[in-house]
Amino acid sequence: MFEDLRPRPPDPLLDTIRQFRADPRASKLDLGVGVYQDAQGRTPVLRSVKDAERRLLETQQTKTYLGAEGDLDYARALGALALGNDVVGDDTVFGVQAPGGTGALRLGAELIRAANPQAQIWLGRPSWANHDPIFNAVGATIRDYQHFNAEKQSVCFDSLMAAMKEANAGDVFVLHAACHNPTGADFSMEEWQEIAQALLRYRLVPFLDTAYQGFARGLEEDMAGARLVFRAVPEAFVSVSCSKNFGLYRERTGALFVRASDAAKADSVRSNVLGIARANYSMPPDHGAAIVRTILSETALRSMWEEELVAMRESLQGVRARLARLRVNSIDFAPIAQQNGMFATLPLTKAQVARLKDEHGIYMAPSGRINIAGLMSADLDSFAAALRSVLVDTAA
Ligand code: LMR
Repeated sequence: MFEDLRPRPPDPLLDTIRQFRADPRASKLDLGVGVYQDAQGRTPVLRSVKDAERRLLETQQTKTYLGAEGDLDYARALGALALGNDVVGDDTVFGVQAPGGTGALRLGAELIRAANPQAQIWLGRPSWANHDPIFNAVGATIRDYQHFNAEKQSVCFDSLMAAMKEANAGDVFVLHAACHNPTGADFSMEEWQEIAQALLRYRLVPFLDTAYQGFARGLEEDMAGARLVFRAVPEAFVSVSCSKNFGLYRERTGALFVRASDAAKADSVRSNVLGIARANYSMPPDHGAAIVRTILSETALRSMWEEELVAMRESLQGVRARLARLRVNSIDFAPIAQQNGMFATLPLTKAQVARLKDEHGIYMAPSGRINIAGLMSADLDSFAAALRSVLVDTAA
């Protein structure tokens, strides 16, 4: 059976974790996978999460099956957090718990294939390393356009507009709601308005990928653009991840929300999504969702979580401000202070990224993406010196 089976190339981000862990050098620096780190380089469990877990331990009466939709109260609470209170009770919007943001994207991808097999999926480059595998896995045609210019550290908005004009009606545009991964370069409100108009004009469907709500400017502010789009169009997908803002990475806590043009179509979406979920994993894991539901529904816990989120955001902004002052050859670090969230993408070649790893023990995604949180406790002068050495030697 396995004679013709060829090994797949490793996932670039997960492979970076593996290589970093195997590196014995004490001075190594992890700027790889997107995990928040504090000034001591740790990724602790949030206090609000620990408190919610204690309550669950004391109060949970059963672990019997919930059903393919998982925890409905969780999905309602997360829908209100991400999309606003008006989605709760809106019978044109269907929300379902999913195993992480990846699970939500995969549910959405399968639904797209079932509903409109002709729909092409448009990704702005660079995009999150798992977007291609998810949409490839369902056999979708992926099209691309340039989202970001790494030399200028700016969004290529004209390229998105040109792609929307070129796309076929019914095509899907995957857009990062906030804290673009891997570049940190988000759309302005004016650009979100133009995006909404273009989606309507060309009858396109947005897939708003939301993994960092609260990491840019605030819980409400970060979703303003995505909500504007979600309200403007008749059909939309939203994937939400609680991995980063609740620090629940390994608990696989996410949700998918789908807007249909009327309640009957939303019902059809519902039965299809639940069928897809059942055939894939039957029902999502409970623990992370139960934690998030508990935090969002209890005032004191929610305030504690919001404070912890502010602290994470401010720490990231502090590193961004320090990074922006670096001078390394022709790299323009200044815009990094205006970008959002956990990542920045530096204009480095794969060879330069490999040398940073081999010669300096600095690990980052092969694309040149750095995890800003990984620099929290680092000496930025040494980081700059390492960058200079690979840039100078390569230029020579
Ligand atoms: C990342 O981009 O580093 C994170 O979202 C982790 C992952 O699953 O890729």
